Amino acid sequence: MPNSTQHFDLLVIGAGPGGYTAAIRAAQLGLSVGCIEKEPALGGTCLRIGCIPSKALLESSELYWEAKQSLAAHGVRLGQVDLDLPTMLGRKEQIVQGLARGIGELFKKHKIARLEGLASFIAPGRLRLSRTGEETELSADHILIATGSRSRSLPGVELDSDRIGTSTEALSYGAVPKRMVVIGAGAIGLELGSVWRRLGAKVTVLEYFDRILPEMDAGIAAEAQKILAKQGLEFRLGTRVLGARVAGDHCVVECADAAPVEADRVLVAVGRAPNTEGLGLEAIGLKPNDRDQIEVNEHFETSVPGVYAIGDVIRGPMLAHKAEEEGVACVERIVTGYGHVNYDCIPNVVYTQPEIASVGRTEEQLKQQGIKYRKGVFQFRANSRARAAGHSEGQVKMLADAETDRILGVHILGLHAGELIAEAAAAMSFGASSEDVARTCHAHPTLAEAIKEAALAVDGRTINS
Ligand code: NAI
Repeated sequence: MPNSTQHFDLLVIGAGPGGYTAAIRAAQLGLSVGCIEKEPALGGTCLRIGCIPSKALLESSELYWEAKQSLAAHGVRLGQVDLDLPTMLGRKEQIVQGLARGIGELFKKHKIARLEGLASFIAPGRLRLSRTGEETELSADHILIATGSRSRSLPGVELDSDRIGTSTEALSYGAVPKRMVVIGAGAIGLELGSVWRRLGAKVTVLEYFDRILPEMDAGIAAEAQKILAKQGLEFRLGTRVLGARVAGDHCVVECADAAPVEADRVLVAVGRAPNTEGLGLEAIGLKPNDRDQIEVNEHFETSVPGVYAIGDVIRGPMLAHKAEEEGVACVERIVTGYGHVNYDCIPNVVYTQPEIASVGRTEEQLKQQGIKYRKGVFQFRANSRARAAGHSEGQVKMLADAETDRILGVHILGLHAGELIAEAAAAMSFGASSEDVARTCHAHPTLAEAIKEAALAVDGRTINS
């Protein structure tokens, strides 16, 4: 091995939530760690062009919408409410930059080498790091692939990185589009569609299936759709998009069996594809599967000894916190021989207003699997805190095993559902029954009482409905 080759116990490729969390945990466990990232900013898609900037815009646009639509009902009268989009976008950028610097500080604290450039395999245990024409070689006992995913497009849709774009463009439109078409009623489509709707765009959501959020509980998704439609999102379900193109000063979206839709901006939000290209996987004899994912066993080991993969490049939901759990489990297993992710308890949140959150199985899945369950539902309109907040739409639905009462799934549509779901995830992680939650004292008045009431409802004994 040449002297110039830097050697580590662990090299992590990718500094997204999966990669940087794994790097920190490995350093805590005493490994020498290097983390390779091609972008100058750490944090990956989630921090740079995903979860965090979208949440910044969701917060800001919600305040604008509230100021225009609902503050008067609270007895707060404002003068004219104006949008200052450059300030809103600038605030979002500052939040992103601050958090990215924070990861850099964490790397320093844990003595993790931050290696900027593009990594590709030369051989098992050996990587080439390329950066603006310079190439260096790195080696490690263990190499963890955490390269994430990128937006997928559709055949016939001509992405021009401007008018017809992905979430990356939709996080930074320089002006509010008059008409916006969103292709795909998943998390990205609904969140960014909501942002621009609140800021004044006429938003049309085209979805292939006959429902929104195909992975979520059907009843909750149907109620969410009604609420979002009242906010002005127009849904065209059962619509298959065939193509989209720029035509002069506007865009045209072609659909099967329906008239074309015109818009100023088109957001393509039809899922994401794993980033496996350019990694030199062929050099170590690793071939992605037909979904472009890297195959791993339950310990995140690939078929090549010493090479691991986590997050969006492997199977399972493409969620930042799922990648984090996997990163921690992977390195703990390397160092201690034990590491585990409980895939039954991974929450999923869509940050619309109200938020949509779920953990565990849906009613549809339980029916398909032939599992007998009892259901408890509690509406937020009977929750005093939700009423006081002026956001009493939605419900909590708890599903428990008919025989053992163990909680199998919780689905929440309502104010701060994304925060509330943590209680359900914790309860399920400890194997709680609905009776356990029903007998847990919840502060009054809080939104969380709706979870306790849903648990009581499993046994038909709610107090407030
Ligand atoms: P998605 O897979 O969640 O939803 C895509 C939607 O597009 C589906 O409803 C699908 O039926 C529809 N679709 C596909 N082809 C179509 C066509 N030709 N015409 C019309 N509709 C079509 O994908 P999305 O929203 O792009 O998100 C990507 C990933 O990122 C997902 O795994 C999601 O979970 C994750 N994500 C999570 C967030 C969160 O947790 N809040 C936020 C943003 C993304």
